Amino acid sequence: MTRMRTRWFVGGLVATVMWWSAAPFAASGDSTQIAKGQKAYAEKKCAMCHTINDKGGKSGGDLTKVGAVRDADWLKRFTKEPKSVMPNAKMPAFKGTEEELDAIVAYMASLK
Ligand code: HEC
Repeated sequence: MTRMRTRWFVGGLVATVMWWSAAPFAASGDSTQIAKGQKAYAEKKCAMCHTINDKGGKSGGDLTKVGAVRDADWLKRFTKEPKSVMPNAKMPAFKGTEEELDAIVAYMASLK
């Protein structure tokens, strides 16, 4: 009887530790990427032309809910080279690293 209990205890402990170490890790991976994107969005002056939550310029339009209407793939193609998606786009192409671009896309996609 004691042996059974020990086994249950160890099994539960292992499962708990695995759950604990896995769950927050996945979540923080995402939120780190979004936070990076938010920073890049500020650094690249996107807010000169775009509004998010009533802050920023008006010429590019409101991105407060852009993640609800555009998927990550579209956002990446558009931000990287707007004219490849909209031939008449006025927005300047993104200038920065692929890493910054991915982070900005993660941030945009999170705006819902
Ligand atoms: C000089 C002004 C300007 C800047 C700076 C700018 N944009 Fe834009 N953006 C626009 C305009 C204008 C549009 C509307 C489409 C067009 O004519 O290009 C647009 C459209 C978009 C769209 C598409 C919205 C939709 O659903 O149709 C996204 C996403 C976007 N911009 C993201 C960004 C990001 C991210 C940055 C910073 C890296 C940025 N923009 C910087 C002017 C700008």
